[in-house]
Amino acid sequence: MKNIYSNIRKVNTKILSKAVNHLKRNDLIGVPTETVYGLAGNAYSRNSVKKIYSLKKRPKFNPLIIHYLNKDQIANDVILNNNFFRIYKNLCPGPITFILKKKISSKVTSLATANLKTIAIRFPKNKMIRKLLKEINFPLAIPSANKSGGISPVEPKDVAEEFGGKVKLIIDDGKTKIGLESTVIDLTGRAKILRPGSLSAEKISKILRSKELTERKFKKIKSPGSIKKHYSPGIPMLLNQKIVNKNFAFIAFGSKYKNDKNIFNLSKESDLDEAAKNLYRIFRIIKNKNYKKIYVAKIPNRGIGIAINDRLNHAAKF
Ligand code: TXA
Ligand code: MG
Repeated sequence: MKNIYSNIRKVNTKILSKAVNHLKRNDLIGVPTETVYGLAGNAYSRNSVKKIYSLKKRPKFNPLIIHYLNKDQIANDVILNNNFFRIYKNLCPGPITFILKKKISSKVTSLATANLKTIAIRFPKNKMIRKLLKEINFPLAIPSANKSGGISPVEPKDVAEEFGGKVKLIIDDGKTKIGLESTVIDLTGRAKILRPGSLSAEKISKILRSKELTERKFKKIKSPGSIKKHYSPGIPMLLNQKIVNKNFAFIAFGSKYKNDKNIFNLSKESDLDEAAKNLYRIFRIIKNKNYKKIYVAKIPNRGIGIAINDRLNHAAKF
């Protein structure tokens, strides 16, 4: 067991320069972000991006998010607009991904954008990944560091569990702050949320000063990545359950549950931020305990609870 963890390292000057060298050679590394851990490669290199798809076993039609230090790096890659500037000014760096039109002149490989005319860009807030982005002169394609369809990693050992020694270096920055992926917003036309995340539609629409962004609307719209089975522990999951069954794992929320060994509480204090942070960790624990079925309590559908319910709904489609 121990040897699969030997590639996990805390950042210091030596490790940072090792990480930079891996990326310059178009090799992949595991990196922390404030949302989930990612699998990073040079977005300008077709070779590097090819490795991402192959390691994740990700279908080629599902494009990747390109990560930048700040907006000074994006001029050659994307066509910008006012909605972008408004959100950028208020919420970046942070857990939000923008879909914008891709410039023909962009050096981002078309493999990373699945041959689409659009590109997904994000400016992560995590200090470690920002240190790394400062040292390189290309952006990074970073999907969540899990096999396609599986559970996103929220700590370094999860990345090792997914890919073992196939990733040469995993940068350790402890548990991720948020625990759920970024909000994906399409700004190519009327603003639409394609994937709910920790930044809520309410917060974003206040910044856009318009009523064009509603929660009801985004339910119908899909990212190419919204394949049915997703974020899944690979075990049948039943949502909105009230009664605990001793034989199954029960994902609870709130103070009324006992401390039985099959009960995994997302937040005893009914705190949705805490629940978001615990969700994937609990999925992974349950998966590793070989339960045959998972029951899940009802989770309030407000704020980040909307993103939690989105992930639960996908995971339940197993
Ligand atoms: O928080 C996050 O966003 C994490 C961290 C590592 O940054 N990344 C992440 O990447 O969640 P990934 O690959 O697991 O999910 C990217 C999502 C997919 O649903 C994909 O379909 C969507 O973004 N996406 C990427 N490019 C797109 C585009 N041009 N149009 C619409 N959706 C796009
Ligand atoms: Mg993912």
